[in-house]
Amino acid sequence: MHPVRIVEVGPRDGLQNEARILPPATRAQLVQMLAQAGLRHIEAGAFVSPRWVPQMRGSDEVLWLLLEQPGLHLSALVPNEQGMRSALACGCREVAVFAAASETFSQRNTNCSIDESLVRFEPVAALAREHGVSLRGYISCVVDCPYEGAIAPGRVADLCLKLQQLGCDEISLGDTTGAGTPRQIRQLVDACAAAVPLAMLAGHFHDTYGMAVANVLAALEAGITVFDASVSGLGGCPYSPGASGNLATEDLVYLLEGLGLPTGIDLDSLVDAGAWIDTVLERQTASRVARARLAARTVRV
Ligand code: HMG
Ligand code: MG
Repeated sequence: MHPVRIVEVGPRDGLQNEARILPPATRAQLVQMLAQAGLRHIEAGAFVSPRWVPQMRGSDEVLWLLLEQPGLHLSALVPNEQGMRSALACGCREVAVFAAASETFSQRNTNCSIDESLVRFEPVAALAREHGVSLRGYISCVVDCPYEGAIAPGRVADLCLKLQQLGCDEISLGDTTGAGTPRQIRQLVDACAAAVPLAMLAGHFHDTYGMAVANVLAALEAGITVFDASVSGLGGCPYSPGASGNLATEDLVYLLEGLGLPTGIDLDSLVDAGAWIDTVLERQTASRVARARLAARTVRV
């Protein structure tokens, strides 16, 4: 199997969903701890409307504090030209736009239809090209939508093609509700890989139904080599009621290392970073691996 790249999305996808709003310095400290654990690709913030997602206010400060570190790829979410200009102003070199395979989710998440969202992304893509900034595209609800139910793989594949034509160099397939099962993920990846090169695709699985690790395995077998994950399983989605956290990075690292796929991440440092942010947020970890590691520490002689 090919080497795998992990994109840590906890500081954005995780924290955007927490009731407690953290100041930029605390968010930057989390990013710093994740980088020290060995993560090299970290989504550090979002330049979205603070009225819609107040948790991401001050993302420019998070990036300012951290951008100069060699070898560390920090990215941010942008919904439109306004967000893109803010990202560029603070020196961000990697951005991500986000669309949905479901019309209702698109309206709830971004107040526009799928086609309107693609129009909004055009100036973002033009600015990305002009400034040599890399552009990722997220697709939410790739298997299931909280409002519309099952989503046909063909709809996702069509959107993959449109995002590629827009100029995205990577497309992250988001199982937002976490309802997907390995067979569905396999069918989805095969359908999308018939529309765009397989090497462009990334897996973004939520663990609501406990399927995320199994879905990673199915996606790996289908040839995907980029996976998103969130430290301690932080997050969910504010527009997907009941969706629990993203796949925990600790669980992903444990799986990959167990498969003989080196990640370059020190699992114990990652567990420490997760335990630290859980204390700040006064929450329990959603990572089974983190729980097991922390329990093992108490009995080790
Ligand atoms: P809108 O209200 O339709 O936008 O929101 P608008 O263009 O009419 O502007 C309204 C106000 O928002 C204006 O301010 C704008 O300046 C401001 P006012 O004049 O009223 O004071 N505004 C902005 N402010 C800061 N940054 C911006 C920006 N744009 C407009 N970029 C909009 C449309 C898209 C902006 C809004 O719906 C929004 O910000 N949505 C973000 C939703 C979000 O962040 N969702 C979570 C991320 S997606 C996700 O988590 C899924 C993913 O993880 C994959 C998966 O798991 O499925 C990626
Ligand atoms: Mg997500």
